[in-house]
Amino acid sequence: MAASKSGNTKTCYIKTYGCQMNVYDSERMAEALVLSGYQQVETADDADMVILNTCHIREKAVQKVYSDIGRIRPLKKKKNDMIIAVAGCVAQAEGAEIIARAPVVDMVFGPQTFQQLPDMLDEVHALRAKGKKSRLVRTEFPAAEKFTALKSVTRAPITRSPSAFVTVQEGCDKFCTFCVVPYTRGEEVSRPTADIIAETQALVDQGVCEVTLLGQNVNAWQDRQSGLRLDGLLAQLGAITGIERLRFTTSHPRDMDDALIAAHGNNLKLMPYLHLPVQAGSDNILTAMNRKHSAAEYIELVARFRAVRPDIALSSDFIVGFPGETDADFDATMALIEHVTYAQAYSFKYSPRPGTPAAEDEAQVDEAVKTTRLHRLQALLNGQQRAFNDAQIGNILPVLFDKPSKKNGQMSGRSPYLQTVHVTMDEAIMESVRGRILPVAITAAHNNSLSGHLSDGD
Ligand code: SAH
Ligand code: SF4
Ligand code: F3S
Repeated sequence: MAASKSGNTKTCYIKTYGCQMNVYDSERMAEALVLSGYQQVETADDADMVILNTCHIREKAVQKVYSDIGRIRPLKKKKNDMIIAVAGCVAQAEGAEIIARAPVVDMVFGPQTFQQLPDMLDEVHALRAKGKKSRLVRTEFPAAEKFTALKSVTRAPITRSPSAFVTVQEGCDKFCTFCVVPYTRGEEVSRPTADIIAETQALVDQGVCEVTLLGQNVNAWQDRQSGLRLDGLLAQLGAITGIERLRFTTSHPRDMDDALIAAHGNNLKLMPYLHLPVQAGSDNILTAMNRKHSAAEYIELVARFRAVRPDIALSSDFIVGFPGETDADFDATMALIEHVTYAQAYSFKYSPRPGTPAAEDEAQVDEAVKTTRLHRLQALLNGQQRAFNDAQIGNILPVLFDKPSKKNGQMSGRSPYLQTVHVTMDEAIMESVRGRILPVAITAAHNNSLSGHLSDGD
């Protein structure tokens, strides 16, 4: 949008914390604001509106939000018609408390209410016109309503990336004892097939060729009317002309079914990469976490994926220092990692969250013990990631090119295994490779990426 700042175009800055679902939600908010006449900007400095789309998963994520509000406060002093909104999972969990703690905040709204954003803005302006301070708090839970509202959203080409997220499922009924998500995102709701296909088609029409389906428990997705499951949805999406790559995240081991495993062998568009969080390798801890599966069951599940797709790259989430975790429990997690071998993983120190059962447990693990365990676990995982990357040297991988690398003269893209690949090339052809999948000869591996050169396909 070419609107100039001198006219009456207002500007908005959106900062996103947390998971990919929040990234998706922020894009939808940006679209709603663009329709209300706002232009998106890259800093809060002289924005008319600032939205912090927050995450409540760990204490640190929440602290970051409050310190960011502290940093924005002086900006509002300078520009007192600025609107500050806190959205997302902290908004859902803390509601009006946020305004009590940070009175500079004008609006608080949860992940299921952002479709009301234009109406909420009107309300803020109406209150201000009457000389009143706005203290809007919207944290109802109509997830299905959100999906209906999303249906009418025309996705604006905000980035020129050939990869996009599409939310297909939201919420969680699992109630792992450490986790706030069932409280912040509500119960599991699946989006109808037709809406997902329409949104994907609209993305393809804008040049997208890779779609990642999002859900807190994406493999629990089911079309309520037809009974279609995720494997069937992936088959339908794979049949759309222009779709080259499909991915989905995050799966729960308990919701995995035979058909979805088989899809990794027979759906040619489905990439050989699976994020399948296990959290821990000790059965005592898995039980205490309410994960509802054993370590052996998880290992068996991984074997079934590898049987249909031997090169599949696995990724996971781990928590160290869950209440009651002994040295032996931690060793069991290390043994599971040794056994499975991961291409990539996320790991965290357990963070007690208000309102969750594990936070009440008296057997909290000492912070220093958590730190030592996290370092050992990350050393093992980093080594596995590096070995996985090293093993690609000499291979030719199809790379979907996305954007220029930070380093001049290079474009970056993704391998089928979701590795970032940097490729040196002539400046003249850079724009023309964006959005295309081309063979790349891998010449070097690093901890978090690969490098190579365009291959002539030999
Ligand atoms: N639905 C996904 C997880 C979503 S939350 C699943 O079931 O796997 C993303 C990750 O954050 C979790 O997998 C977990 O590893 C981590 N996490 C969640 N709550 C946490 C807590 N209280 N402390 C530390 N890490 C946590
Ligand atoms: Fe949280 Fe467990 Fe639900 Fe994942 S499955 S979102 S970890 S409660
Ligand atoms: Fe965080 Fe909410 Fe996602 S708590 S991880 S932003 S679902």
